[in-house]
Amino acid sequence: MAVDEHLMHALVQAARAARERAYAPYSKFLVGAALLDDHGRLHAGCNIENAAYPQSQCAEASAIAHLVLTGSRRILAAAVVGVAEEPVTPCGGCRQRLREFADETMPIWVADLQIVRAHYTLGQLLPASFGPSHLG
Ligand code: THU
Repeated sequence: MAVDEHLMHALVQAARAARERAYAPYSKFLVGAALLDDHGRLHAGCNIENAAYPQSQCAEASAIAHLVLTGSRRILAAAVVGVAEEPVTPCGGCRQRLREFADETMPIWVADLQIVRAHYTLGQLLPASFGPSHLG
């Protein structure tokens, strides 16, 4: 499936909508993520914090849970939306989570509420990564 600009913008919009649902009463830092799977379906997620802070979950992890639940094992593209001075890129842990279901060419678009701030491939954000193939 070709991942064109139109699809990427649809992903960004889905991530913006998901961000509106974020539960982040402690950090007040709302994040939305959206993933495109190999069936052309979109899966969105938001961060979900917890009073026991380390139990909080990132937006990307929420979106991955939805993708897996619907039977997919493949992420073709991702969008992450947050509002900060710097573009809100996936945290290190989430780069590895994405790697489980995506290869190094997978595009990641990082946006705020108005514009796409940056785009990367997963390989740029997680070079020389460890992945499922290492386990044979
Ligand atoms: N957060 C995400 O949801 N995704 C990221 O990749 C960066 C960080 C969330 C976790 C926490 O709820 C809040 O942002 C502040 O770190």
